[in-house]
Amino acid sequence: MGLLEGKNALIFGLANDKSIAWGITQAFKREGANIGISYAGEMLERRVKPLAEKVDCTWVEECDVTKDDQIAITVEKAAKHFGKIDVLVHSIAYAGRDELNKPFHETSREGFKVAMEISVFSLVALTNAFLPLFNPGASVMCMTYYGSVKVAPHYNVMGVAKAALESSTRYLAYDLGPQKIRVNAISAGPIRTLAAAGVGGFRDMYKHFADMAPLRENVTIEDVGNSAVFLASDLSSHITGEVLYVDAGFNTIGVQISDKDE
Ligand SMILES: NC(=O)c1ccc[n+]([C@@H]2O[C@H](COP(=O)([O-])OP(=O)(O)OC[C@H]3O[C@@H](n4cnc5c(N)ncnc54)[C@H](O)[C@@H]3O)[C@@H](O)[C@H]2O)c1
Repeated sequence: MGLLEGKNALIFGLANDKSIAWGITQAFKREGANIGISYAGEMLERRVKPLAEKVDCTWVEECDVTKDDQIAITVEKAAKHFGKIDVLVHSIAYAGRDELNKPFHETSREGFKVAMEISVFSLVALTNAFLPLFNPGASVMCMTYYGSVKVAPHYNVMGVAKAALESSTRYLAYDLGPQKIRVNAISAGPIRTLAAAGVGGFRDMYKHFADMAPLRENVTIEDVGNSAVFLASDLSSHITGEVLYVDAGFNTIGVQISDKDE
């Protein structure tokens, strides 16, 4: 029997088969979850619908998380289809290209606002909107990156947003703990996805990562998917408010010396 048998899981942030959300979707399917998928923007429908079919998912809904009315409609549709929800995955982030290429001190007011709204506030908004549907023991999770705690060149306002996302995870976990609802974050190492392509210098950072990480490997969407299964399942029933690093150990290194330098 799969670890998520009988659980209803909603996954927000599927764009294509490179998305971290796709690694999570496939792992959840393997473990027996009933899956619902949400995506943003008509342009993605063409890519998302065939992926949903592959995992026998019939609940595929468009939701732009900057729109309260779209969130409310999505909750209504989920209530009708699933009744109750056991797992909610937030795998959403956005910052303008300028913000991820210029120096951080040149971040614009609007660019800062947009990054925080889409990448951080959306977790709060979705969690609050779905609250009436959560079963006791429900698990909410979001995706973060180490640029929240240390400087990752070019990550800029997204690093600031991830710090706020991790903090929001803790505050939500505190609020929802009495209802036995857990909220955690997965901090993944760099993965080649659509979102990552917007970060200046990503290619070099990706290569450097595999030279430096204790496991000497990059992480994959399958690795993140398997860790997401753990956080979604009852195996993690007393873990909440945490940031789980799925990064081949990269964050544990204080002084970086590549094997190649020796
Ligand atoms: N790729 C990496 O290296 C990496 C590492 C650590 C964390 N993450 C995080 O993982 C999450 C998923 O990113 P990904 O790398 O899989 O890239 P991705 O581009 O596949 O996913 C990002 C998703 O955000 C969605 N999105 C953007 N604006 C939205 C809006 N207004 N409403 C709803 N959805 C919106 C996009 O449609 C897309 O599906 C993000 O939070 C990202 O920051 C990525």
